[in-house]
Amino acid sequence: MAKTRIIVALSGASGIVYGIRLLEAARELGLETDLIMTDLAARMIGIETSLEPDQVNALATRVHDSFDFTSPLASGGIRHQGMVVIPCSMKTVAGIACGFSDNLLLRAADCTLKERRPLVLVPRETPLSAIHLRNMLTLAEAGAVILPACPGFYHRPQNIQGLVDHVVGKVFDILGIEHNLYRKWREGETT
Ligand SMILES: Cc1cc2nc3c(=O)[nH]c(=O)nc-3n(C[C@H](O)[C@H](O)[C@H](O)COP(=O)(O)O)c2cc1C
Repeated sequence: MAKTRIIVALSGASGIVYGIRLLEAARELGLETDLIMTDLAARMIGIETSLEPDQVNALATRVHDSFDFTSPLASGGIRHQGMVVIPCSMKTVAGIACGFSDNLLLRAADCTLKERRPLVLVPRETPLSAIHLRNMLTLAEAGAVILPACPGFYHRPQNIQGLVDHVVGKVFDILGIEHNLYRKWREGETT
């Protein structure tokens, strides 16, 4: 049976650890991942972690240059279970909302929407301007799922990993992928 295939895109917002953890978890779950990393995402890896971009690339099944419009991800014909942009900058939110596909991430998201496949965006910015909010509403109306990088606390996270895993687990929930990244509210209770 074919493996579950997802497109994972990292853009240059703070919270690059969310994207890295999603790639790690996808690997542990045996998923096939196609990775697109923007130039600013590669910079964020250096700014926010002690990893090199190549170490993050190594977590993916396939890596696509963010300006390679000859990639299969630039076509709507590619079959996949969904695309996630994690973290998603406000620039990338704006680009997808306008259909302004001047890099591979934006083009792949455009194709995912037009083919009616799941598109999950994990925006990270605060505070949000009316422009940010309007763009996200446009995307929600077009069928994207806006899943802000806002971890919950009801599962009593013990460390940063527990917070990151909650957001990553929510992404897998939307994509219909089973995981054990966080315990659902009252799951397993008998009363
Ligand atoms: C240290 C740093 C932190 C940033 N954090 C954010 C952020 O949290 N959210 C955001 O929308 N943009 C943030 N930016 C700005 C984006 O990197 C910038 O808008 C860039 O054009 C995004 O390009 P991309 O979406 O193609 O990766 C940050 C930039 C730097 C250098």
